[in-house]
Amino acid sequence: MRARIAVLPGDGIGPEVVAEALRCLRALAGSFGHTLELEELPFGGAAIDACGEPLPAGTLEACLAADAVLLGAIGGPRWSHPSAKVRPEQGLLGLRKALGVYANLRPVRVHPALLEASTIKPDVLTGVDLVFVRELTGGIYFGAKTREAASASDLCVYSVPEIERITRAAARLARGRRRRLTSIDKSNVLETSRLWREVCERVMRAEFPDVTLEHMLVDAAAMHLIRRPRDFDVLVTENMFGDILTDEASMLAGSLGLLPSASLGEGARGLYEPIHGSAPDIAGRGIANPYGTLLSVAMLLRHSLALPREAQVLESAVSRAIEGGARTPDIAGPGRACTTREAGEAVLEALAAPA
Ligand code: IPM
Ligand code: MG
Repeated sequence: MRARIAVLPGDGIGPEVVAEALRCLRALAGSFGHTLELEELPFGGAAIDACGEPLPAGTLEACLAADAVLLGAIGGPRWSHPSAKVRPEQGLLGLRKALGVYANLRPVRVHPALLEASTIKPDVLTGVDLVFVRELTGGIYFGAKTREAASASDLCVYSVPEIERITRAAARLARGRRRRLTSIDKSNVLETSRLWREVCERVMRAEFPDVTLEHMLVDAAAMHLIRRPRDFDVLVTENMFGDILTDEASMLAGSLGLLPSASLGEGARGLYEPIHGSAPDIAGRGIANPYGTLLSVAMLLRHSLALPREAQVLESAVSRAIEGGARTPDIAGPGRACTTREAGEAVLEALAAPA
């Protein structure tokens, strides 16, 4: 097949992890006979430096014309002064909104070889397999903001259609899995959460009676995620709760650097990015974990290019690289840590020697 992928390496460790992802993607496409057009474009802080804005028109245009978008990470201290007028993050929010990718899928699986890499006890982690569906284009991230000398405000708004569509996306996913959906809110305090709970309940009863629905308050969910993570299948929640809980959930897998994500809208086009940030503290040292980005590429192959076999081959290659000991410092434990490049090499080798 032929496909066009817009590539946004971004800032900090973004370009480092994306470079490995592209090497592996090229090799994989080559061995399956696919022709991929990979176009790298300025985005985030790098784009602010180059053209004064985080999401230049040319970048957005290329993303809208592509079959999928692969993103590294954005942001950094250079652009994050509290009084900064333009921020890399505005580019990311603008891109998510412009692509209409309201459903952010963040799967969390625990690799048996990495049980010891987590700070959580192995017997709590064995068999964890859950997916967060984070609402990505609404809520407090996108509400009106005010700032005065002595006060500031951020408005949180959700509409019925926004809640309906994210509930359906999560429920469809649950249908293909263990048919359990946990909806997370703060309905004892927030009006948006009370609407969320009502709409979610109605959609599930009418359209997904075969999927078991439970509601959970966000504070309790933060606790249960660590206490009994195996009990969760699909979790759906609003934008900011999802942002926070997925960083927490990454500790189940052992490292923030391992988690991929897919942001999807109505069509096949999607935005794929690891859930980690630009990690300015380790940028340029060649030690960032590229696996979250590689696994995001697998999600891209599956969801946007309809290539489930290729996706599975890549996932299996990442697994085997980890088993073979290719572990960046964040997941190395007491063993020898490898570089970003070596981790990429290990995946390339595994791709060349299919399981
Ligand atoms: C994420 C990130 C972003 C978010 C930031 C960089 C704006 O933390 O994708 O989780 O908050 O959505
Ligand atoms: Mg986040």
